[in-house]
Amino acid sequence: MTDGRGVFITFEGGEGAGKSTQIRLLARSLQERGHDVAVTREPGGSPGAEAVRHVLLSGAAEEFGVRMEAILFAAARCDHVEVFIRPALSRGTIVLCDRFMDSSRVYQGVTGNLDPRFMETLERVAVNGMVPDLTIILDLPAIEGLKRARQRGEASAAPDRFEKEAIATHEKRREAFLDLAEREPDRCKVVDALQPVDAIAAAIRSLADATLGDKMRPRRSGAAR
Ligand code: TYD
Repeated sequence: MTDGRGVFITFEGGEGAGKSTQIRLLARSLQERGHDVAVTREPGGSPGAEAVRHVLLSGAAEEFGVRMEAILFAAARCDHVEVFIRPALSRGTIVLCDRFMDSSRVYQGVTGNLDPRFMETLERVAVNGMVPDLTIILDLPAIEGLKRARQRGEASAAPDRFEKEAIATHEKRREAFLDLAEREPDRCKVVDALQPVDAIAAAIRSLADATLGDKMRPRRSGAAR
């Protein structure tokens, strides 16, 4: 859990799961209720991390291997956490982030076949205690997600480094996100992304409200300093 006054919520899932739409809807709903909200994304979210994003998504780092890519994702994350996320949370802001450490666990760790100890070390350094309060995993079959990703006005754009991988790889990532939710059920909540947009938004709102309620509940007197 984050130690600041804000709340840190991350969104995960495969390509075309609707993360950006849902982040926008949740941000609006929270703002309408008077919360201070910041929306950010990975890789990126700070000037240093955005520079690394370009290297990763263009495929420029691909020839140097999965380990190198994993280190670059971690470098970007480290900068994003220290430059953007931690300061925002300590101001009391609710931070909504499109992808975070679980994407590295799944894309580099599972489908990149990297050594779990190597991945854990990278994660520890990059996240530096900033574990999300809530992680929403938007789940849908890989084939459907890829179809949607291609339809959403990016039809003419070439697929990025990760989108162009085989369908079996995308399906393996879906399973890996579901495994993760089973292993960390308190933090990670799976939402069925095949539902209508409004139903997904309502499910996410109630998960976010529960987390906000937990974090903002007054401490028991014994715990107060
Ligand atoms: P992006 O254009 O942000 O797409 P999406 O809408 O799918 O989030 O591309 C980010 C890509 O980078 C996506 O394919 C997942 C991948 N990625 C990793 O492989 N590891 C990571 O740690 C992160 C944050 C993203």
